[in-house]
Amino acid sequence: MPRPETGIVRRGLRPYDKHMACIPVMFFSGSGSTALIAELIAGRLAARGHDAPLLSVEQNSDPGLLGACDLAVIGTPTYHNCPAGTLLDWIARWPPGAGPARAFLFATFGLYTGNAPHLLGQALAARGVRTVGHTGFRGPASDSVMMLPAWIGFMFRYERRIARRIDTAAGQIAALAEQPDAPGRLPPRRWYAPLDHVPNRVIARNRFRRRLAPGLRVLPGRWQGEAVDCPRGCWQAGPGGVPVCDPADCDFCLRCVHRSPRRAVIWDAAMQDRPRLDPAFYAARRAEIAAQFPPVDAG
Ligand SMILES: Cc1cc2nc3c(=O)[nH]c(=O)nc-3n(C[C@H](O)[C@H](O)[C@H](O)COP(=O)(O)O)c2cc1C
Ligand code: SF4
Repeated sequence: MPRPETGIVRRGLRPYDKHMACIPVMFFSGSGSTALIAELIAGRLAARGHDAPLLSVEQNSDPGLLGACDLAVIGTPTYHNCPAGTLLDWIARWPPGAGPARAFLFATFGLYTGNAPHLLGQALAARGVRTVGHTGFRGPASDSVMMLPAWIGFMFRYERRIARRIDTAAGQIAALAEQPDAPGRLPPRRWYAPLDHVPNRVIARNRFRRRLAPGLRVLPGRWQGEAVDCPRGCWQAGPGGVPVCDPADCDFCLRCVHRSPRRAVIWDAAMQDRPRLDPAFYAARRAEIAAQFPPVDAG
């Protein structure tokens, strides 16, 4: 079946018409920052009259869902200058032809994305997906808030004008939905990113892998029977039902740490009372950002 001029036709979703495209917003998120940005982008697309279902990689593991799409938004956090491993693994599992025809990428990050957007674009290109736009959003640093002094306030904040930047991205995405012939725009490889390779990709990542991840554990005094939320199934019930982590497949997303009720998950005693980027934290950020959105120009 030929693709429509704009928008998509796919299972279970409303067919588009000239004024409305279906633009799924797909993401992986550890602590919740990428999920929040994805949700807000989807909201701004919906405010423009588009159908923008929000799909997390974990809950929508059927890649065929995207296969009939013309354009999808795909979001990733930056972990050690790379896209999230859980997102890359999911893309690698797609059967041939399962992805959307085109993608608009975004990365969330605490300091800078390095080559994460480029690497995500490459992974998608290998599956036949053409990247037609990309952007990044600086926000809370889910690693640093656990390790650096809490008075470094910017680690907990989104960039200034985040609402306007999200809205601008939604406008670009909506415009791209109307331009099926828009040229591909693979995020450029940053020549300076390799300078960060040794400190970030090698030393910091190894530190997570060898020293921090093996220390991930539940504090029995704070645990009240909940399962630990982990996208990679690293936690299993141990003696007495207390969850125990096998970090062999850990991607260091730190969801288990940030989302555990009562700060029950730690990797060392020093971080047990540090503030977490938990659902309440992101709910407060959502309300702040949503209050700043400019009105949508319906024209
Ligand atoms: C293990 C780990 C490594 C990270 N590495 C980087 C990095 O290289 N550059 C950066 O700017 N932010 C880095 N961050 C911060 C995250 O990119 C940022 O907090 C992101 O928005 C988290 O999104 P999420 O909550 O959806 O997982 C890292 C976070 C973690 C947990
Ligand atoms: S063990 Fe924790 S940090 Fe590792 S993948 Fe699971 S949730 Fe993420």
